[in-house]
Amino acid sequence: MARQNISVDQKKEHAVSVRIRDVYKSYGDHLVLKGINLTIEPGEIFAIMGPSGSGKSVLLRQVAGLEIPDQGEIRIDDHAPDLTCMGETRVGMVFQSGALLSSLTVEENVGLFLEEHRLKSREEIRKTVSDKLRTVGLEGVESKYPSELSGGMRKRVSIARALVIEPQLILYDEPTSELDPVSAVTIGQEIYRLKKSMAITSIMVTHDRQLVQGVADRVAVIYDGKIIAVGTPDEVWKSQNPKIRDFLHINFNLDNISL
Ligand SMILES: Nc1ncnc2c1ncn2[C@@H]1O[C@H](COP(=O)(O)OP(=O)(O)OP(=O)(O)O)[C@@H](O)[C@H]1O
Ligand SMILES: [Mg+2]
Repeated sequence: MARQNISVDQKKEHAVSVRIRDVYKSYGDHLVLKGINLTIEPGEIFAIMGPSGSGKSVLLRQVAGLEIPDQGEIRIDDHAPDLTCMGETRVGMVFQSGALLSSLTVEENVGLFLEEHRLKSREEIRKTVSDKLRTVGLEGVESKYPSELSGGMRKRVSIARALVIEPQLILYDEPTSELDPVSAVTIGQEIYRLKKSMAITSIMVTHDRQLVQGVADRVAVIYDGKIIAVGTPDEVWKSQNPKIRDFLHINFNLDNISL
């Protein structure tokens, strides 16, 4: 592939805003996103919660530019989403499944983008990769294959992979699923540290209530393809909307279980 004219070292030093306006998305006759409106401020950690199947991953894919909405518009600063990072803004994505390539080592997976686009020399790529692995608390796993790692380690590798491009916007789909509680807190702290130390805007889709209360500036609740609440975690937790209460305050109820 031809050498590109951009370098990840020529990074813009500002976090970006994300504006989602009236976004609709369907697959065949299944309408999934039903008019989503959200504005995410530069530097925010913005959480999206909601029941399984409500459209969270679909929404994230539209923001990443992996899919194009049927209607409506998404703007990252003033630009259309573009996960290739060859455009105006650099967007990193941590997929729900991790999405590592099984035939490549950890080092090759994390460095793949830089390697493919020849953005740095081999030696610089090697150094960047181990820096980013250290950032997510992994060291000495460069030569391992994904199948040799635990689910939590794979998740961290996929976060490191998103970080190598020095993203201005990072999209996390379930960053703490598959993690034990201690590792989940570590990742939450890492998301917070990234926000503090770099010009980075974060959107995280998650079911992890502790993560949202711990690090999110604001949270939106999506229900059946529509946003039904947006606010600080405290505001949303106090909501009297039964759909939100049922979802956020769910606890075991064994009283009505019959045999
Ligand atoms: N590529 C696709 N083709 C057809 N239907 C899809 C596609 N992607 C998602 N869907 C449908 O869209 C709906 C929302 O899916 P999505 O993956 O966004 O759920 P989610 O909110 O992320 O759920 P979870 O919490 O389980 O990850 C589901 O009914 C799903 O079947
Ligand atoms: Mg999902």
